[in-house]
Parts: sequence; structure tokens; C-alpha cells
Amino acid sequence: MKLVFATNNQNKLSEIRSILSPEIEILSLKEINCKEKLPETNPTLQQNAIQKARFVFENYGFDCFADDTGLEIDELGGEPGVYSARYSGEHSNAKKNIDKVLTKLKGNDLRTASFRTVIALIIRGNEDVFEGVCSGNISKLEYGTNGFGYDPVFIPTGFEKTFAEMSMKEKSCISHRAKAVSKLVAFLNSYKS
Ligand code: IMP
Repeated sequence: MKLVFATNNQNKLSEIRSILSPEIEILSLKEINCKEKLPETNPTLQQNAIQKARFVFENYGFDCFADDTGLEIDELGGEPGVYSARYSGEHSNAKKNIDKVLTKLKGNDLRTASFRTVIALIIRGNEDVFEGVCSGNISKLEYGTNGFGYDPVFIPTGFEKTFAEMSMKEKSCISHRAKAVSKLVAFLNSYKS
């Protein structure tokens, strides 16, 4: 089975190739010569993941899957959510996004939040969705230098350190993405047999 992962993120590609059965060949967007920016214009993670997967399926004819992730902070009504990558505007970066979160939560002791990853899969036109959630709290300051994005301010439930203070292996045991990917992998590994 050939399956396109609608990403050019090398880390995500290696991660999924290492856990899938070798009978499932994973292709990147580059490998199918897709150089376009995939559309993600919807108000929810699920709709965006489906939109990206459909774009590849309809325009390139490959079975494929796409993912979308957001940080949902309860006291901010679920913000930044689907806008996590560009929370601080057009020229957002991780530092500016974290600053905005810490400023908005200043003086607030209720700091519960969740990371959510949604993966949309299309095989021969059939759509399936897999979700992974990791709940936790937003710290008052930044801690740690590992990882990326909001990792320095996210303390997963049951831990006393942020994702950015964990090794990649430690984070991968509990992360939202790992949970969604393991559901996808279980589905695919049973699908091909
Ligand atoms: P994407 O959908 O995986 O590209 O993620 C969207 C945005 O969410 C990224 O730009 C990051 O800012 C943030 N994000 C996604 N996953 C993580 C994570 O595991 N840790 C911290 N931030 C993340």
C-alpha cells in the first residue's frame, strides 16, 4: 500500500515510517511533486485535516492522510486552538505565541489546557478520523529548551515539568500526536492484513 502523508515535516515522516509496517510505503508531498501550500481555511482542526487530505486525494489521486494540531486553553475559550501556529499574527513565531498566552493568562490561577491532534485518512475515497488529546496546565514561566512550539509552557497532567524539559522519547509516550498516530497505525496495520 502506498500512502501520502500530507506534510514535508521530516520529523513527522520519520516518526510514522518507523512505526508502520514496511508493507505500507509512506510518501511525502515532495515525493509526489506537490509544491503547493495545502489549504487550511476552516474553523476546526478536524475540518482542516480533512481539507488537506481531500486536496491531495482529489488533485494528485493518492490515498493519503493529513494532520492538524492545536493548543486549547480553557480559560481562553479554547484559544489558540486551530490558530495555534499563527496566534500572534502574520509573522508569528513560538516565542511571540508563548508571550501572548502568558500575557493573556497573567494573574489567572486557572490554567488548564489540552493539546489536540486530529489525523484525517482517505483510502479509496473513504474518510476516517483519529484524535489524540494530552491534557495539562500552562506554567507561569517558560521552562526547558527541548521540543518546539508551546512546549516550554505546557505541563502535562501527572508531571511536574514541561514538555520542553522532557526528552523526545519521554514526550512521545504521552503526547497528543503519539496518541493520534497510534490509533492511525493500529487501523492501517489491520487494514492491510
Ligand atoms: P501543526 O498542525 O502540527 O503544524 O501544529 C500547529 C501549531 O501548534 C505549531 O505551529 C505549534 O506552534 C503548535 N504545536 C503543535 N504540536 C505541538 C507540540 O507537540 N508541542 C508544542 N506546540 C505544538
